[in-house]
Amino acid sequence: MAEGGDSDSDLLVIFGITGDLARKMTFQALYRLERRGLLQCPIVGVASDDISKDELVKRAREAIAGAGEKIDDKVFDKLAGRLSYLHGDVVTDSALYDALAKQIGSKHQCLYYLEMPPSLFAPIVENLGKAGLLKRSRVAVEKPFGHDLTSARELNARLRALLGEEQLFRVDHFLGKEPVVELEYLRFGNLALVELWNRHVISEIQITMAEDFGVDDRGKFYDGVGALRDVVQNHLLQVLAGVAMEPPVGPSADDLNDRKADVLRAIAAVDPDRCVRGQYRGYTDVDGVAKNSQTETFVAMRVEIDNWRWHGVPIFLRAGKAMTERVTEVRLFTHRVPSLSFLPERRRAEPNQIILRIDPDPGLRIQLTALDGDRWRDLHLDSSFMADLGEPLLPYERLLHGALTGDHQLFAREDAIEETWRIVQPLLDNPGEIHRYEPGSWGPDAARDLLRGHRSWQQPWLADNHH
Ligand code: BG6
Repeated sequence: MAEGGDSDSDLLVIFGITGDLARKMTFQALYRLERRGLLQCPIVGVASDDISKDELVKRAREAIAGAGEKIDDKVFDKLAGRLSYLHGDVVTDSALYDALAKQIGSKHQCLYYLEMPPSLFAPIVENLGKAGLLKRSRVAVEKPFGHDLTSARELNARLRALLGEEQLFRVDHFLGKEPVVELEYLRFGNLALVELWNRHVISEIQITMAEDFGVDDRGKFYDGVGALRDVVQNHLLQVLAGVAMEPPVGPSADDLNDRKADVLRAIAAVDPDRCVRGQYRGYTDVDGVAKNSQTETFVAMRVEIDNWRWHGVPIFLRAGKAMTERVTEVRLFTHRVPSLSFLPERRRAEPNQIILRIDPDPGLRIQLTALDGDRWRDLHLDSSFMADLGEPLLPYERLLHGALTGDHQLFAREDAIEETWRIVQPLLDNPGEIHRYEPGSWGPDAARDLLRGHRSWQQPWLADNHH
């Protein structure tokens, strides 16, 4: 392995440090890494705002407190001591890159973390290249990676013209969520699950990502994107790849990413007739949203994985804003057992279900069925990971640490990203009709019709403390 190196980064440069993501996620993750003693290097923040370092430190403190952390001054001061700030136009200001070069000095393993609009990824990397700052460096880019298959390929090509694949870290924060990481160990470390996890036992799979809030203040961004690009092409298809993959044959990130790519390659591009797009009523009143917007805030679709493990198992994905609950879960249904000849009327039992809850309160549920008097009742074997495994690392804690140490396990590889765009592309090309739905509902009726002949969408497994 060449340029990406296997040593820890000795400088972290965050482009867009005054932005939303830094405020909501990055500072908190850095603070928590600092608290755990996992942060080793100085941090240079870059953005266009002309603010002092003190102002940046103040904002960092507010962001960390705002994210709900109880601030330990000693830890915070240590983190603040690492921070410095450079401002300028990241596209046109070559002096900015000269100043950055000075800061970098003899450091040799930098991580550039681009928390910027995607249209700036390539220009920034090209500017870093011109300034000679890419040698032995790593570059992490936030989603979205492209807005369709063609643009994703173009972006890859521009980045790869200057960077090796091992230097690039494509962030999808779902890959840093505990249950998504844990899935590999659960699936392959437990024979009880291993033996169930295939088409002989599993008849259908549903993946739901529901959010109980609308697009809030992100109208302008969201209206150009929609649910399909915002969360399905990336988060849900990455989750599906983890749910469906074969066991990796070795410990490297490529071993893992090879198996995920196999799954994605085996999924045919979606049939728009098997997809439903919805928009919640009131969406077009949101600031920044076009009055006649056809952008979907809900999408449901059917996909299939045509391989030996999953052939014939329909997979239904749905994602929506302004729904009844906030919950993300993966639900596998078993086939039904034969009718039970030892019961009156040879009753048929309900299929079992295995549910991995990703958010909130990650956990695993096995749903069995028991006969109570003369009717079947659900029996739940539940584990809350928080209760059983302790407090998890936050996704961005894992991801930042992974990128700083050059570990690609949690990052999406180029081929997977192109496959996911290929899968959703027909719906981008032929979006079809948009169905209105009431905010606070489970989406348009058409999403129910999509499942005709199959298990209907289930009431999600809600966290105990939800209200
Ligand atoms: C982001 C999307 O990638 O993921 C948002 O842009 C969405 O629209 C968010 O709300 C959900 O992430 P999480 O981790 O809060 O479930």
